[in-house]
Amino acid sequence: MKKNYFSYLLILMVFVLGTMVSCTKEGPAGPAGADGTNGTNGSDGTDGVDGNVSCLVCHTAVNMDEIAATLDTHKHVMGSSWARGTSGSCGACHSSDGFIEFARSGERIAAAVSTPLTCVTCHDNHGSLEDGIDAPMRYLGPVESLAIEGAVYDHGGGNLCATCHQARRASTYYDSQTEPMTYDRTFTGDDIAVYQAHGAIGPNGTMELMNDTLFVTFDVPTTHVYTNSTHAGPHHGPQANIFAADIGTMTGSPFDRDHHTDCSSCHVATELAGAGHNFVPDIAHCNECHGDALNIGEEQEVIAARLEAIGAALESIGAIHIADDGVHPMYASLERAKWNAFWNYMCLIEDKSEGVHNFGYANQLLNSAETALGL
Ligand code: HEC
Ligand code: HEC
Ligand code: HEC
Ligand code: HEC
Ligand code: HEC
Ligand code: HEC
Repeated sequence: MKKNYFSYLLILMVFVLGTMVSCTKEGPAGPAGADGTNGTNGSDGTDGVDGNVSCLVCHTAVNMDEIAATLDTHKHVMGSSWARGTSGSCGACHSSDGFIEFARSGERIAAAVSTPLTCVTCHDNHGSLEDGIDAPMRYLGPVESLAIEGAVYDHGGGNLCATCHQARRASTYYDSQTEPMTYDRTFTGDDIAVYQAHGAIGPNGTMELMNDTLFVTFDVPTTHVYTNSTHAGPHHGPQANIFAADIGTMTGSPFDRDHHTDCSSCHVATELAGAGHNFVPDIAHCNECHGDALNIGEEQEVIAARLEAIGAALESIGAIHIADDGVHPMYASLERAKWNAFWNYMCLIEDKSEGVHNFGYANQLLNSAETALGL
């Protein structure tokens, strides 16, 4: 029974406490106080970039796809030489990975797997996304010449191109002999008829056919220069050197016109479909400035005709062999002036612009070759 009284007491106490809590309820709000003084304004933040305007100049799917489709048809992707990048002496120019490593560290490496150019070979990440956003480029620094000791090429956006599109060898690589020499070589197959007809074997050279092999001894006195390979020449893209006028057997005046010494300013016509990623110069654009004053096509035709005549003369003295797939140097011992004509011709043939890259220098090399060959 006692237990029950205690329970009643507990219930009573909880009831009293509950009533006390509800008795401390807040009263009605008082009248509003007077306004305080305003704080000072914070400084303005930097304006953000309007993404729709500045990014979509480039980053629309249509634009980027069109650029990719254009690039995909170019030799930078389709060419056969992209298989060559697994060798250390070719990797920096003939593989994407090799080029990226060269741009990063200056090291010329062999790529483990050699692949053609992609967007990120030539383009890097944006360094920043502030105003004035350009296509981010992988390499824009000055380019040290591989062939000409101490020479440096520095033409803005063209430096990317010049890193690869430069000579690998100068004429002095071949013309460096200080003693009279002889060299023995054998020829078989189609080569036999070619060397028997035109072989340039030097003043005391000998040639003998035994069974199906032609044995040749090239005699190379110091008045002569020996071509020691059918790949002799500056290599296939000496464009940066023609600009600098440093790759022939004599130097000349550099093409020195600020507004278009940069390869990409002529070869990457960003206003056209595919943003110029077929790397074909937009001649219509050239003509807007040049008009009738400089007929580029006409100048090229004149130079092409002179190159053809020099080529025929060089073939007749056994310096080169011209086949359907192009010009092939021959093993040869040639008098220095004639060998120089061969070299200067190869520089212009490999440049592939028919003189545009430096009309002045092209004419200088052609004149000298014509004199040496009696044309
Ligand atoms: C003038 C052309 C151009 C403009 C303008 C531009 N980009 Fe790019 N952007 C490129 C190119 C070229 C690449 C490299 C090609 C690729 O990665 O496909 C690239 C790459 C990128 C990448 C991948 C690489 C990286 O940097 O991380 C991002 C993200 C990017 N852009 C964002 C932007 C944004 C955001 C804007 C606007 C604020 C912008 N871009 C404006 C051309 C442009
Ligand atoms: C990584 C080295 C590399 C870079 C960078 C590079 N190229 Fe090339 N380019 C090549 C090679 C190699 C070929 C030939 C590919 C083949 O046919 O196998 C080539 C081919 C070309 C051709 C076609 C030539 C022909 O015979 O039809 C043009 C034009 C050209 N490049 C221009 C440029 C321009 C302009 C730039 C800079 C915007 C540039 N290249 C950057 C290596 C490069
Ligand atoms: C300094 C960069 C450079 C180096 C190093 C280099 N090449 Fe090239 N090579 C080029 C360029 C640029 C072209 C394309 C030139 C053009 O078409 O105007 C080319 C073109 C070629 C082509 C002709 C592609 C064609 O079908 O027309 C072959 C083959 C080739 N290179 C092989 C080699 C080999 C093999 C090596 C290494 C022993 C090598 N190259 C090293 C830059 C280089
Ligand atoms: C051989 C080098 C090379 C390769 C490969 C290359 N680009 Fe470019 N790209 C350039 C050069 C050079 C420019 C011109 C830069 C300039 O003039 O400021 C350029 C410009 C651009 C621009 C800006 C165009 C404009 O209107 O200003 C875009 C976008 C672009 N590239 C996207 C790409 C994409 C996407 C790929 C791959 C599908 C690619 N590029 C591959 C060299 C290259
Ligand atoms: C003044 C403008 C101009 C400049 C700068 C220029 N080129 Fe050219 N390039 C041309 C013209 C024009 C041709 C000839 C195209 C033709 O006849 O179809 C050409 C031809 C070429 C070719 C041969 C293309 C083919 O289809 O056979 C290559 C490769 C080349 N240039 C690369 C370069 C490189 C690399 C640079 C920078 C070192 C450069 N060019 C600078 C205008 C220029
Ligand atoms: C913005 C105007 C302009 C554009 C565009 C232009 N050029 Fe020029 N170019 C000039 C001027 C100015 C000269 C200097 C004329 C002189 O020295 O007689 C020049 C000089 C040259 C020369 C040297 C002529 C010589 O006798 O040595 C060549 C080659 C050339 N341009 C080719 C081209 C090609 C190819 C293109 C198009 C890819 C082009 N130019 C686009 C203005 C332009």
